Order: sequence, then C-alpha cells, then structure tokens
Amino acid sequence: MTTSTAAAHSPEALAGIAIRLAERAGSRVLDLRRRGVEVQASKSSAIDIVTAADRESERMIVEALRAERPDDGVFGEEGAGIAGTSGITWVIDPIDGTANYLYDLPAYAVSIAATVADDAAFADGRRAVASAVHNPRTGETFDAWEGGGARLNGRTIRISGQAELAASLVGTGFGYTVERKLEQIEMVTRVLPRIRDIRRFGSAAYDLCLLAAGRLDAYFERGLQPWDYAGGALIALEAGAELLGRDASTPPGEPLLCAADPALVRELRDVVLGADGASTPA
Ligand code: IPD
Ligand code: CA
Repeated sequence: MTTSTAAAHSPEALAGIAIRLAERAGSRVLDLRRRGVEVQASKSSAIDIVTAADRESERMIVEALRAERPDDGVFGEEGAGIAGTSGITWVIDPIDGTANYLYDLPAYAVSIAATVADDAAFADGRRAVASAVHNPRTGETFDAWEGGGARLNGRTIRISGQAELAASLVGTGFGYTVERKLEQIEMVTRVLPRIRDIRRFGSAAYDLCLLAAGRLDAYFERGLQPWDYAGGALIALEAGAELLGRDASTPPGEPLLCAADPALVRELRDVVLGADGASTPA
C-alpha cells in the first residue's frame, strides 16, 4: 500500500468522508421536506414507511461512495447491498427517524458508518471504525473514529458520567410491529419506575449521539438494525459509553443494545431484562 492509499484508509479519513456525505445528503433531505413528503412504500408493517427522500438520500450516498471508494462494500436500509473487496463496508441509514421526518419533528438524522468484520463486537458481525451522524434540522454533525474520540460540530464531546440509575434520564425506542411493541412495553414497565424519566425521540442514531453528548444518561433498545446503530454506537463508545448486549455471549445489536457510563450500564441491563430481582408493578 502506498502512503497516500494508507492515509485514504485511515479511520480519520473515513470519518471525513462520512461527514461530508452525511451533510450533503442531509441538505437534500431538508430541501425535499420543504416541498412536502411523499410516502412511497411500507416495510415491516403499514406504519413503517419509506419516503422518496429516504431513497434519494441513500442513492446519493451510495453513488458518491461507489465513485470515491469503488473497492468498499455498501449496505443501506433502503436496499443497497454491494459486496466489496477492501474489507470496509459502509452501513447507511439515509434518514433515521423517518416518522419524525414525516411529521416535521426535528429529530432525524443521516447516519453513515465505515465498518469492518468483527463477530465479537456487535450482533451483526461488524464494527464501525469511523462514522458521522448528521441532523439536518438542527445543523448538528456528530462524528468519531476509533481511538480518536467523538465530536459534535468539531468539538469533543463526553458522556454525562451519571452512575446512579435513579437519577438517570434514559432514552429508548420502539419498533413497528405489535409483537415488538409488546416486548418493549414490558421493558419500559420495568425501567420507568427506577429512573428519573424516559425519552423517546424517534431516531436511534440521534439517541446514541445525545448519549455521547451527555444529553441522555443512558439508552437501551431491543430490535435495532445495523443501520440504526452502526454510526451512533461508535460515537457513544468514543465519548466514553460502554455498550452491552443481552448477555455475556450476545454482543450489542438486534437482541438488545444498552449503552451508558460503564458504572451504570450493567445495572440498567439487569433492570431492562428483569434480572435484578425487583418485582414488576401490577
Ligand atoms: C427507527 C428509529 C427509531 C427506533 C426504531 C428504528 P427509522 O428507524 O431509529 O428511533 O426506535 O427501532 O426502526 O425507521 O426511522 O429509520
Ligand atoms: Ca433507522
């Protein structure tokens, strides 16, 4: 590998690409929103929608990555799936928080992560080495690369450091099927009486960034897909959070992702799973 190719593959360089493409797609998404929303399809249930802007955002990002990094793989929520040869696969959520986009609520984001294969790190077998999450409604761009810390609009961010569950503001999210929602209600029933309060903003990628910036103390969700968490998870990790999956042999991901200060995250997981011995209110 030449020096310039090595530099092009550095996590910092990959984060730079993620920032640029997320901001460019975000500005297009915002532009399209001003002209109105066009719902084009539904996915896991009738309320799990895809808008024209989701597709346009993913198309723009994939096209740019294919031009700039033709050897990389690309994997996106709206169907992109290209195998690469470089070992890097880009995981894209073109609009995380599509329901907020539909209702013009300011919590949605474009998430782009450069990932490598790693069975032990996350349930989908990949781990991000660089990422960006851009909220075009607030103008916030979060980014991180492995070992390089996490930033919001270029300034270093850290988690809140809250270690007491009872004092914690905890984010979570819900899926789109009745079965999934019923499981999530049980989790919330166990957690809510034990914490300061709960927040459900509607974008997992953005939630993980809010945790990274200390605006949430903790976050958990069951049912996340790789595109929902790939970008935000690295940003939370680099800001000092620890991420846990359902148990010691299941890494964070679809079965469960819990994220918080290392001194808090185990207790949170126990409460989420009802493994702390406390009885659930009737
Ligand atoms: C959803 C959001 C939401 C989370 C769901 C995701 P989408 O993604 O991240 O916060 O609770 O699990 O599916 O559908 O808005 O891209
Ligand atoms: Ca999503």
